[in-house]
Amino acid sequence: MFVTAKKAVELLLQGNIVILPTETVYGLAGLATKPSAIEKIYKVKKRPKENPLICHVGDIRTIYEYSYVNAEEEKLLSFFPGPLTVLIRKRNIPDIVTAGSEFCAFRMPTHKIFLEIANKVTVPIAAPSANPSGRISPTSEEIAYEYFGETIDIVKGGKCEIGIESTVVRVIKKNTLEILRAGFFTKEFFVNQGFTIVESKKENDFLSPGLLPKHYSPSIPLILFSQNYMEYLKNENYKEKLITILENVYEPIKKQNLRCKKIGFLIYGEEFKKNSIFYNLSKSSNLQEIAKNLFLYLKEMEKNFDVIFAFKPPIKEGLGVAIIDRLRRASEFEI
Ligand code: TXA
Ligand code: MG
Repeated sequence: MFVTAKKAVELLLQGNIVILPTETVYGLAGLATKPSAIEKIYKVKKRPKENPLICHVGDIRTIYEYSYVNAEEEKLLSFFPGPLTVLIRKRNIPDIVTAGSEFCAFRMPTHKIFLEIANKVTVPIAAPSANPSGRISPTSEEIAYEYFGETIDIVKGGKCEIGIESTVVRVIKKNTLEILRAGFFTKEFFVNQGFTIVESKKENDFLSPGLLPKHYSPSIPLILFSQNYMEYLKNENYKEKLITILENVYEPIKKQNLRCKKIGFLIYGEEFKKNSIFYNLSKSSNLQEIAKNLFLYLKEMEKNFDVIFAFKPPIKEGLGVAIIDRLRRASEFEI
């Protein structure tokens, strides 16, 4: 059911879980101070207990109350609110929230409705993305409803402005950060602010080519093509050409019988209109627009096709890094 922000505050204070909008993706929220609510989150999401949750606040002061902020972390808090999450040594946050870690991930969203609710409950709100583990994060109230609407109350907040999850960072030492998850706050942004970025081992795992471990994905296979393959779409028999290339590069894909499948194409660029099989993320190839539409389109496409052929974004730095990361996590195979 959909509920008001006021009702959501009541539910949270009673120890219930609710789905709340943020500017990145919808979150499955419970009070971080109530272990029984956190148990419910892990259970309904079918999330492994080793994977900790982000704590969200409506006011920076709440972060100081629930963690020991050092001078380096303080610099990062100056970028709050926004799609940025910072690991800080926790205080009075139950272990179940952080999967036993002494560090808690904190974020202050910009979404008005979220802030209103967070400032009424006044304690940190633990919230992973509101999708069952392994599925695409919801970026609209409709998608959140499709996942959990029958059982969990949802506060409507419209389409998410950013559309991909926050950048997660941790301070390594003075002026040095590790980016644990790429997002809207880019490596270039931090470098401009005087930080050095050390490569994350976690990130590097995703950057290896070929077959990748799946992290979350549409319910249908997604094959990820380099940007240059988009040229083929201008040919008449582009479908046959792309399938032939794929089969030459990776023979086992023949088993998928792609020629008999309904294929949807996730693209960008002005020469392509959105038609029934081409889903155009951004006619102007704008990375922010691509990010905002990415999960919305993937969700639509899983309903309409058997397979998705997606193309990497035009720029492999800045926000392009986060977009490629999400496409890779969604993909079966990359060429
Ligand atoms: O934009 C977002 O971050 C959204 C909205 C709802 O705020 N939340 C979100 O949460 O994406 P989730 O649970 O789907 O992803 C959180 C990520 C995971 O990769 C998790 O491992 C990492 O943050 N994380 C959370 N707490 C952590 C901790 N204490 N130490 C290390 N990593 C942590
Ligand atoms: Mg998630």
